Amino acid sequence: MPNFIIINKKIKNFKKKIIISGDKSISIRWVLFASLANGKSKAKNLLISEDVLAAIKAIKKLGIKTTFVKNTCTIYGNGIEGYNYKKNIVINAENSGTLGRLILGFLVNTKYPIKLIGDKSLSKRDFKRISDPLQKFGAKIKLTNKKNLPLTIMGSSNLKPIKYLENKGSAQCKSSVMFSAMRTNGTTIIKAKKSRNHTELLSKYLNLPVHVRVNKNYDEIKVSKIKTIRPLNYNIPSDISSSAFFMVLTVLSNNSELLIKNVNINPSRTGIITILKRMGVKINFINKKIYKGEKIADINIKSTKILKPINSPSKLNNKAIDEFLIIFLVAAKAKGISYFKNLGELNQKESPRLEWGSYILNKMGVKTVTTKNSIKIFGNPNLKINKKIIIKNFLKDHRVFMTSVIAAYSFGGKWKIHDKESINTSFPNFLKIINKIKN
Ligand code: S3P
Repeated sequence: MPNFIIINKKIKNFKKKIIISGDKSISIRWVLFASLANGKSKAKNLLISEDVLAAIKAIKKLGIKTTFVKNTCTIYGNGIEGYNYKKNIVINAENSGTLGRLILGFLVNTKYPIKLIGDKSLSKRDFKRISDPLQKFGAKIKLTNKKNLPLTIMGSSNLKPIKYLENKGSAQCKSSVMFSAMRTNGTTIIKAKKSRNHTELLSKYLNLPVHVRVNKNYDEIKVSKIKTIRPLNYNIPSDISSSAFFMVLTVLSNNSELLIKNVNINPSRTGIITILKRMGVKINFINKKIYKGEKIADINIKSTKILKPINSPSKLNNKAIDEFLIIFLVAAKAKGISYFKNLGELNQKESPRLEWGSYILNKMGVKTVTTKNSIKIFGNPNLKINKKIIIKNFLKDHRVFMTSVIAAYSFGGKWKIHDKESINTSFPNFLKIINKIKN
């Protein structure tokens, strides 16, 4: 099977109902929490993708048994002190920043040194943002080039609680510190800029000693040592970040409509909905419910003829952090100039996404002005592509591939998009769902 896709036709009108695979952030957190639970936890609709399978391989290395029967995953936790592993183990987080960063929080009290490695993309990403606070607890972490993987973590049996200011709006940093605090005597106080709050909601559902005071821009989170985690059966809702590709495909197509079932619409993740609505898109949530603290709904979305440009408020950045590449395509068709600012964090992802966003748009013939942390997109409501476009991402970045595919189906042109296998990290069914919508 070639590792690229050729697309040379726009998609025709469609009216479809689709189901997207499980949420990646919740899947990885479920695996990690379940690995320390007192007994057997089961998850239905766990995302089966390389990132989540890497999490399962990681906990297996730590001596935790897991099984899969059809789409149900079972993890047999042995309690919070239940990891059982040999000296000098190596954990491979592969492409997953979430796994690499979160699991370190679980390893601050290891008895032996553990090496953490990742693929080429993850090895370029910043781990100092995690090692700095974790060392304050008392763990010892040795990084490559002072900020990268491979790293070695050596835990401490005498961890001290810390005060931590998380001001990047990174849920990975916040969660890693929360997990470390759960291993530490005393109470850690975290002041965290708003970011996705799945760790907090899961902790609350599990009755763990985590107290959150919600403020306007920052949350104050107090975390004390956990004594036990009860088993956690979970039916994982669909991922809004994966749904986003099909939402935008619908918006940019003619006379089309899509219903996406059972999506996690946690308000810390719905920046894309707010942004699209402000650009004139009609979106409705149907069958709203709450499941273990998480909001869930079916999303109904329609194609939109006239799209308004947006000066995107920075306060939405963390709520849409994984969706900007795909949002940029909507801005490309808007009537006017859109502006996205304070987005330096986008260049910290699997590949520098702000740069990739403007690269793809420029290839499509869309003018952009890009700085280190902002992009202006000069939209064109009549945008049509007739030329050949080749996209070859040199780092494994699933969202660059999927955004390019949606651009090809929405605007036309003759596209060759490399690195098809990157979808296996987060959304192995992506092309199958495209085919379902096409036929
Ligand atoms: C994630 C947090 C975000 C996001 C990533 C998943 C998480 O990263 O980009 O895809 O599950 O905590 P940052 O916390 O680094 O912003």
